[in-house]
Amino acid sequence: MKEYNDYLELVNTALSNLRLPKQPEGLYAPITYTLDCGGKRIRPVLALAACEALGADPMSAIHQAVAVEMFHNFTLLHDDVMDNADVRRGRPTVHKKWNEETAIISGDAMLTTATMLLAIKAGSHLAQALELFNGTAMNIYEGQQLDMDFENRCDVTVEEYMEMIRLKTSVLLGCACGMGALMADATFETQLKFFEYGVNLGLAFQLQDDYLDTYGDPATFGKAIGGDILNDKKTWLFIMALNEDKSGVVKFLIGQTDSPSEKIEAVKAVYNELGLPERIHELISAYIDSAVKCLDSLALQPEARAFFMDLALKSATREK
Ligand code: IPE
Ligand code: IPE
Ligand code: MG
Ligand code: MG
Ligand code: MG
Repeated sequence: MKEYNDYLELVNTALSNLRLPKQPEGLYAPITYTLDCGGKRIRPVLALAACEALGADPMSAIHQAVAVEMFHNFTLLHDDVMDNADVRRGRPTVHKKWNEETAIISGDAMLTTATMLLAIKAGSHLAQALELFNGTAMNIYEGQQLDMDFENRCDVTVEEYMEMIRLKTSVLLGCACGMGALMADATFETQLKFFEYGVNLGLAFQLQDDYLDTYGDPATFGKAIGGDILNDKKTWLFIMALNEDKSGVVKFLIGQTDSPSEKIEAVKAVYNELGLPERIHELISAYIDSAVKCLDSLALQPEARAFFMDLALKSATREK
């Protein structure tokens, strides 16, 4: 097994070797801008590492790993329009730097590029790779729609929220792991177990993303703080606050847009009073434990197990 940064380098090299067309510039410049802006690349790293953990050369999954990263970046372009987000990875989002039309069409081109990459050297795994990839993509769109629908509801339950984040975020981490296992020629059962590890990791990952949206340092997190509160996103924090806040402040502030920083501070004060920052981390730890249980069922070599264990633990406390 390699270190995270070694897999990261393989991914970045493959991305820089893509040689996307340059014209029309309005279509391709935003794609290059997005890919050059960095990102943790956790999904393609998961794919390469899963492949190697199962005894294959990680490069056998490189095109599929890059496909997953390309797809992820496509979802970000559209997500930032949907969430009206101005900053990502410390830079203006595509729809702010260019416009919404650009975010739509460059996103579309990234989605198609992703499916083209997925097929490269997929060999006998092509049909299964497409099934996993397209099934995951449909789940993500469903999750994103639920995320938007929930903005206009006050009765979203924790169960509904967990299903929404499973769809919009977790399955893509699962898909990355499953894709690496598939390209390593693993059995379907092993692919499924790796997928489940990724899903549990993904649930913890999105819970931490929601935590950082309120409590992160914008310089490190690379995104504006408080966007979820301003958009009335039904995150776990917000749902718990709605359920437990006796003052009624949180409910009263839903839909208010005139004093953004006051709204963020008032909701955050309720979160703090209810001890939600600590409580969300207990929940995150529970999903990390579930991810580790999936790992144990895989019976990996100690070095491989340690890699995925470490990644799970780091995801729970990540600051960016
Ligand atoms: C952002 O994903 C969207 C979520 C699912 C939370 P990442 O946190 O992986 O974003 P990058 O790619 O590292 O910027
Ligand atoms: C991420 O949800 C889900 C997808 C991008 C599909 P968020 O809306 O929380 O992601 P960020 O915080 O903008 O990265
Ligand atoms: Mg968003
Ligand atoms: Mg969103
Ligand atoms: Mg977020």
